[in-house]
Amino acid sequence: MSPTKYDFNDRMLSLGLARVAEQAAIASASLVGRGDEKAADQAAVNAMREQLNLLDIAGVVVIGEGERDEAPMLFIGEEVGTGDGPGVDIALDPLEGTTLTAKDMPNALTVIALGPRGSMLHAPDVYMDKLAVGPGFPEGVVSLDMDPAERVEALARAKGCAPADITVCILERPRHEEMIAQVRGTGASIRLITDGDVAGVMHCAESAITGIDMYMGQGGAPEGVLAAAALKCMGGQIFGRLVFRNEDEKARADKAGITDLDRIYARDDMVTADVVFAATGVTGGSLLPRIKREPGWVETTTLLMRSKTGSVRRMSYRTPV
Ligand code: FBP
Repeated sequence: MSPTKYDFNDRMLSLGLARVAEQAAIASASLVGRGDEKAADQAAVNAMREQLNLLDIAGVVVIGEGERDEAPMLFIGEEVGTGDGPGVDIALDPLEGTTLTAKDMPNALTVIALGPRGSMLHAPDVYMDKLAVGPGFPEGVVSLDMDPAERVEALARAKGCAPADITVCILERPRHEEMIAQVRGTGASIRLITDGDVAGVMHCAESAITGIDMYMGQGGAPEGVLAAAALKCMGGQIFGRLVFRNEDEKARADKAGITDLDRIYARDDMVTADVVFAATGVTGGSLLPRIKREPGWVETTTLLMRSKTGSVRRMSYRTPV
């Protein structure tokens, strides 16, 4: 049977998605290291939205810059694209790591994932408890119900090494002090990051290059869905449980249609169908090099992945500016 005009053709859509990530990175490039998070984010948002609107898709932003009343652009529910194409869900973070960008610290990325309608969890803007490992381990080798030390020990057993040979990535936050102490108690090493847990999770999928075996800790729930989309392409497991600090946050979940507040979401519960994922390096790190600027031109590197095939491309793009 030949595909209809509006089938979700991930292969055809993928290059367009890479362009969206590239242009957002190029727009924020001149703001790297300038100490202005807001300006860097705004530049990326504007460029991402402009590029998305050139794509032949009937897109809806499901993970975006915030609720309609707090984000004027790329808000949750915003329709993007020309409308002349397949209906798609879009999860995006035009600049994941606004502070990293403003301070020129590693691993700021522009991030976007696209899948058929209904393919991604409409995560409210609350925290999520996250736990991720790379590919090659039995399903459920670690779980959110284990305490941090048990997770390290279970992963070390599965990897056939000592806990001291495991490296865990954790966001450096006061809320993680107890977790950090427990992980250190096993002898494992910790790579503390100041921001950017989408990249933190993705590091687990390329542990031979990044040196990270496991990610754990609380970060944004929207970033959890983006990380799940990345791991669906790269391989690996991620588990997430929403964290509610007050009634207002519970109301956000209600608005997003979430009724089971204690549910543990596995990767494929957060991303239920095949997706395309693109991320461009803004500042450099072990996943992607930084954007390069020279008088008259700019060069980016984009990670472009499709979960259907497991294909992972690193594409460099050089253009005059
Ligand atoms: P921004 O790029 O929006 O500033 O978010 C960066 C980030 O570090 C995410 O990667 C992470 O999920 C979240 O913020 C953590 O939130 P908090 O800073 O409140 O601990």
